[in-house]
Amino acid sequence: MAWLVVNFFQRLICKKLTFFLNSSLIVAEMAPDPKLFVFDEVAKHNHQRDCWLIISGKVYDVTPFLEEHPGGDEVLLLATEKDATEDFETVGHSLSATEEMEKYYVGNVDMSTVPKPVSYRPPASQSATATTTTSSAQSSASLIKVLQFLIPLLIIGVAFYLQYRGKKQ
Ligand code: HEM
Repeated sequence: MAWLVVNFFQRLICKKLTFFLNSSLIVAEMAPDPKLFVFDEVAKHNHQRDCWLIISGKVYDVTPFLEEHPGGDEVLLLATEKDATEDFETVGHSLSATEEMEKYYVGNVDMSTVPKPVSYRPPASQSATATTTTSSAQSSASLIKVLQFLIPLLIIGVAFYLQYRGKKQ
């Protein structure tokens, strides 16, 4: 009798285990690895009829969404051919916008192929000129202040001198 009970539980556990393994295999088969693009491939999709965006390392084909986008299609087209993460985040999109995005996800991008955003830096010579200009402007401002103090003193001095000479004569 005891043997029968043990056998029953053994079979039950085996069945559950097989079901679990099979379902995990199915899930694994259903979710293949996302496609990995290089930047140049993504950047080619840069017009009204074919528009792909890179946001947080993911690639979105937003072509069907261009007309619907509440911010307009132009901003989306301007965000192609670059990492649009900052643009997307600066707007402060809502949670529903982030959920909406998932519909357009087509894969990931190899971030090492994506050009870094260029921040403007004036050339060395220009910045040196700018420094010189600033320091010369500062020195002329302090000269004016000194003169503003000295000139009235000079006028008062001359006036006293003339008065003194007039009295003497
Ligand atoms: C897959 C990508 C994107 C999706 C799904 C998306 C979706 C949305 C949605 C649903 C809104 C309405 C407001 C909200 O719910 O946050 C919105 C607004 C807006 N989006 Fe996007 N967006 C995307 C990418 C971008 C990008 C790259 C830019 C570039 C700057 C952008 C600029 C804007 C602007 C300017 C608004 C209007 C904000 C306002 O008027 O308050 N979006 N977007």
